[in-house]
Amino acid sequence: LSEKIELIRNHVQSFPDFPKPGVLFKDIFSVLREPKVFSVLCDILCKHVKSLPSKIEYVTALDSRGFLFGPIIALDQQVPFVPIRKKGKLPGDICSASYKLEYGEDTLEIQANSIPKGANVLVVDDLLATGGSLSAACSLIESIGAKTVECLIVMELTSLKGREKLKAPVHSLLKY
Ligand code: PRP
Ligand code: HPA
Repeated sequence: LSEKIELIRNHVQSFPDFPKPGVLFKDIFSVLREPKVFSVLCDILCKHVKSLPSKIEYVTALDSRGFLFGPIIALDQQVPFVPIRKKGKLPGDICSASYKLEYGEDTLEIQANSIPKGANVLVVDDLLATGGSLSAACSLIESIGAKTVECLIVMELTSLKGREKLKAPVHSLLKY
């Protein structure tokens, strides 16, 4: 497993000073350009989910890069996939939760009634930075009466301590 994880790590490209000076941007799309490495990554994620003690009943993922992995995991588990999107993108009745950005705030939304009360939910994203996005996603899931079993992340920027904002267990493959 650690060899496979190192293979993935070696394919994540880093971009200094993107999108602004001082930020070292980790780009997941460089992994997706290599089908064999992308497939190893999906395989690790799906095997991890199969190994969880509680049965996952719904998979959610965050707009937009969480959508690269969430549906693949949901299909593998043969459970529904439910998107959590930035505001104004989802039709019908919605629930909203706001979160802080460096300047100002943003809002995430989920379709009301997309997940039944009491369901066990997995939340997927590509990257954990400050944890603002994931904690908003978890509050949405809580507000509709469901339960976040785990937040599953490909890359975690540990120095930002986003994990500390989250009540649910967090599992990340690559730590930076
Ligand atoms: C990035 C990333 C995570 C989030 C992490 O998404 O994909 O979702 O930021 O940051 P945080 O832990 O500080 O909240 P972004 O909002 O840039 O959206 P995108 O995937 O559409 O580019
Ligand atoms: N990479 C991708 N998305 C991000 C990053 C990063 O390094 N930091 C915050 N969002």
